[in-house]
Amino acid sequence: MDVQSKKEIAKGLFAEHIAVFCCPICGGKFTVTEAGVRCNGNHAFDLARKGYLNLFAGRQSTYYDKTLFTARRDVFAAGVYDLLIEEIASLIKELVDSAPLVLDAGCGEGSLLARIHPLIPQAGLVGVDISRDGIRLATVHSEPIMWCVADLARLPLCSGSLDVIVNVLAPANYNEFQRVLKPGGAVIKVLPGPGYLQEIRERLEGSAAYSNEDVAAKFAENLKVGRRFQLSYEVGVNGALWEALIKMTPLSSRREISGPRPGKITVDLEIIQGSWT
Ligand SMILES: C[S@@+](CC[C@H](N)C(=O)[O-])C[C@H]1O[C@@H](n2cnc3c(N)ncnc32)[C@H](O)[C@@H]1O
Ligand SMILES: [Zn+2]
Repeated sequence: MDVQSKKEIAKGLFAEHIAVFCCPICGGKFTVTEAGVRCNGNHAFDLARKGYLNLFAGRQSTYYDKTLFTARRDVFAAGVYDLLIEEIASLIKELVDSAPLVLDAGCGEGSLLARIHPLIPQAGLVGVDISRDGIRLATVHSEPIMWCVADLARLPLCSGSLDVIVNVLAPANYNEFQRVLKPGGAVIKVLPGPGYLQEIRERLEGSAAYSNEDVAAKFAENLKVGRRFQLSYEVGVNGALWEALIKMTPLSSRREISGPRPGKITVDLEIIQGSWT
C-alpha cells in the first residue's frame, strides 16, 4: 500500500466518525478538509501522510523513544500480552453489546487496538498518544483504527461520545475521561502488579519493590469500581524476546540490566473496570 492511499483510507475513517471528534483547543466541532480537519473556531490540524491526525503541538517527551516502541511491538508480537488482549476484548463485549466506540488513551505503538479489532470488528477504535514516534509506528498496523497524536489531558473528542476507555500502563486524566465518556461509559485500566516483569527488575541494581496501591486508590476515588482482578501468568523467553524486553525498558534503566537471561518472564497485571454511574 502506498503512503497516499494510507492517508486516503484514514481520511475516510475519520470522516465517518467526525461527529465524535472535537477541537482540543476550543472544543469546537470538526469538519474534514483537504489537509486534515478544521474546527468551527478555525483551528486546523493536519492528517499526516502515514494516516494519523496530529492534534498536539507541544513538546514531545523523549522518555519513550522509537527503539522502545519498536521493541514493545515485538513483545506484543511474541504473544506476551495475548491473554490481556483477550481479557480486555471480552470485558468490552460484556459492557457494550452493540458497536462500541473505544478509546485507547496512551496507546503507544498501537498493538493492543490492532489485536482487539478482529475480536470486536464492529467497534470504532481510536488510539491517542502524545508520542509522535508511537503513533507513527501505530499506523503501520493495517487495521481500521483512528490514530491521533494528542494529550490525554485535552482529548480531541466531544463530550459524551465514547463507550469505553482503555488505559494500559499509561497515565490517566479522570476529569477528561469522565467528560468524553457517555453516561454509564466505562474505563478499563491496566496496572502493573507487584510481580510484573520481575525478572527484569531482579536484574536491575537497586530496583525497589513496586506497589500499585496509590494508582488503584486514585481510580477508586474517581470512579465506582465494577470489577478489579489480577491477571498473572508466565511466558517462555528466548534470546530475541529477552532482547526486546530489555529494549522496551526506558533508556535510563536499560543500560544497567545485567545477569543471565531468565527462562520465563512474569506478566502480573491488575485490571480495574469502573464508571461514574
Ligand atoms: C508504558 S507506555 C504504554 C503504552 C501502551 N499502552 C502499551 O501498553 O504498549 C505509556 C504511554 O503513555 C503515553 N503518554 C504519557 N503521557 C501521555 C499524555 N499526557 N497523553 C497521551 N499519552 C501519554 C506515552 O507516550 C506512552 O506511549
Ligand atoms: Zn478549535
